[in-house]
Amino acid sequence: MTTTSADLTTDVLVVGSGPAGSSAALFLATYGIECLVVSKYSNTAHTPRAHITNQRTVEIMRDIGIEDQIKAAEVPHHMIGETVFCTAINGEEFGRVHSWGTGPDREGEYIAASPSLNCDLPQTHFEPILVRNAMERGAVFRWKTEYVSHTQDAQGVYTVVRDRLTGQTYTVHSKYLIGADGGRSQIAADLELPMDGQMGVDGSMNIHCDMDLTEYCQDRQSSLYWVLQPGAAVGGIGLGLVRMVRPWNEWLVTWGYDINQPPPEMDDAKAADIVRNLVGIPDLEINIRHWSLWTVNDTYATENMKGRVLCVGDAVHRHPPSNGLGSNTSIQDSYNLAWKLAMILKGQAGEELINSYQDERVPVAKQIVRRANKSISEFSHVLDALGIDPADDDEAMQAAMDVRKQPTEEGEGRRQALHKALKIKDYEFNALGVEMGQRYESSAVVSDGTPWPTQDTDPELHYQPTTHPGARLPHAWLSPKNPFAPKVSTLDLAGGGHFTILTGTNGHAWVEAAAELAAELGIDIPAYRIGPDQDYTDTYGDWARLREIADDGCLLVRPDNHVAYREARLVDDPTTALRDALTAVLHLKGDEKTAQQAKGEENPHPNHRQLETADA
Ligand code: FDA
Repeated sequence: MTTTSADLTTDVLVVGSGPAGSSAALFLATYGIECLVVSKYSNTAHTPRAHITNQRTVEIMRDIGIEDQIKAAEVPHHMIGETVFCTAINGEEFGRVHSWGTGPDREGEYIAASPSLNCDLPQTHFEPILVRNAMERGAVFRWKTEYVSHTQDAQGVYTVVRDRLTGQTYTVHSKYLIGADGGRSQIAADLELPMDGQMGVDGSMNIHCDMDLTEYCQDRQSSLYWVLQPGAAVGGIGLGLVRMVRPWNEWLVTWGYDINQPPPEMDDAKAADIVRNLVGIPDLEINIRHWSLWTVNDTYATENMKGRVLCVGDAVHRHPPSNGLGSNTSIQDSYNLAWKLAMILKGQAGEELINSYQDERVPVAKQIVRRANKSISEFSHVLDALGIDPADDDEAMQAAMDVRKQPTEEGEGRRQALHKALKIKDYEFNALGVEMGQRYESSAVVSDGTPWPTQDTDPELHYQPTTHPGARLPHAWLSPKNPFAPKVSTLDLAGGGHFTILTGTNGHAWVEAAAELAAELGIDIPAYRIGPDQDYTDTYGDWARLREIADDGCLLVRPDNHVAYREARLVDDPTTALRDALTAVLHLKGDEKTAQQAKGEENPHPNHRQLETADA
């Protein structure tokens, strides 16, 4: 980073240190890119908003070399899945939903989908891990520094920021600007990004508190305890929510308010009353840490970038917490973007590659915003099944709830309706397809002319692995040559900031082509043959079932572990085929290739994983 008078120069300026911004900095720093992060406040998030961390996010952390740190800080998969529906924490329980793949009917599917399991990791614990690792790898953070405005030209972006300690403004010049400034993004507003949908659909409040609920939770361990009480269906996220932050004494309680009325006047005493009511213990000892009001939004940007300014995270998708998709999608946006920026900035890809960020991530934003809002509306089935009117008082609500206990036809109808209504909540709590099934169609993917495989299961609930170009590389466990070494995932072979070739026993020619092109383009292209006595062995035969190519076929996998190009069989001239694919994906023109060849750079990406190579 160079300084000229009051100005700073860096390759990438990131505004915001939330999950989107801090992960962008971590990815860029890992790929060897100079970046500066400015953030408005003095530290990382002080409220534990996001918590459910899905498998895609954990496997991205695995790729970037910090999965062990996630595991050390998480509340693990097996402790988060008994989602409870009740009238109070110490009151009547009327249903439970096995969640986040912990149910006996779903767990195998989750385990098969990824080398990493999901977990609960509150934002207050996750963000510091992202920031610390980003800083250790060279990213620079300036706290109490706020974005003011920007202008851009063909060479870069001039961003005016204000130091909130001194009040001074200064200009940062960067080649790219990442707007990770959250749901009230000034950068998205300044870019006039078109938004589809509505802000402020409903009103909600978070109350962060300490209270000991061990007695009520240790034998039904969960992240979420949904509480149905009079007023619970007003605003907010469907029902009252008592959410574990740390088991079983730190909690985030969420309660709705009517967005069409003036915001409720809150203080700690009122917050404590709301919490005690939902727990059901009038004299419960509570320490209120913090409360805040927020709104439920239902909107996404139909364009997420302009020129050299790219927006990630809540800046471009704003939705309720249902399905736990916000922070996850924000991190996944940054993962999609970072390798593209890195390769462009190193001269390894043409600048047009960046446009694929929009083509690939806007459809994801649309999908998750719609899904999260639909999940809220699906709480109404639970109320309907119980015969509850949202306007009911305590007595009317209890009377309606009691009908399902009766040995009558009406009682039986209510029981069946409730089971059905809670099953629909799988679309919130077990939506593996939404979490893992993101597929890209863009100029950073080369079609092989085949259609996407048909899926005979519900694509929101179930993830269908495929190696079709644009899909995430399916996970399968493989054994290294040394059978006493730990097994590795197919995802471990790829990623690491570079393109990778995966082929089979007869795929020698692809391995040679990869080496030739790596030298020609000045990039790393590791290539692995998977088969008996090859670089890795398909011990369980899972890869043979998943790969959708023959032993002499080939997959070219992008640094973000999505398939860029595939050939089902060996072609006449693999070097030319691979060169054409890479040239297309990287948007390389003849002169850029020559420039890169002339540089003959080695790829400086640190690969933080210990992989056995062909030589091992
Ligand atoms: P975020 O808002 O986190 O960060 C924005 C950053 O920009 C901050 O660092 C801020 O200081 C900075 N900033 C803003 N304006 C600036 C300016 N002008 N200049 C400089 N800096 C500026 N998600 C999930 O994946 N799983 C889950 O379980 C949940 N659960 C959940 C529960 C509740 C109650 C809520 C409210 C939300 C969730 N979420 C979630 C959503 C999640 O919290 C949200 O999607 C992420 O925080 C978004 O991350 P961003 O980094 O995009 O924005």
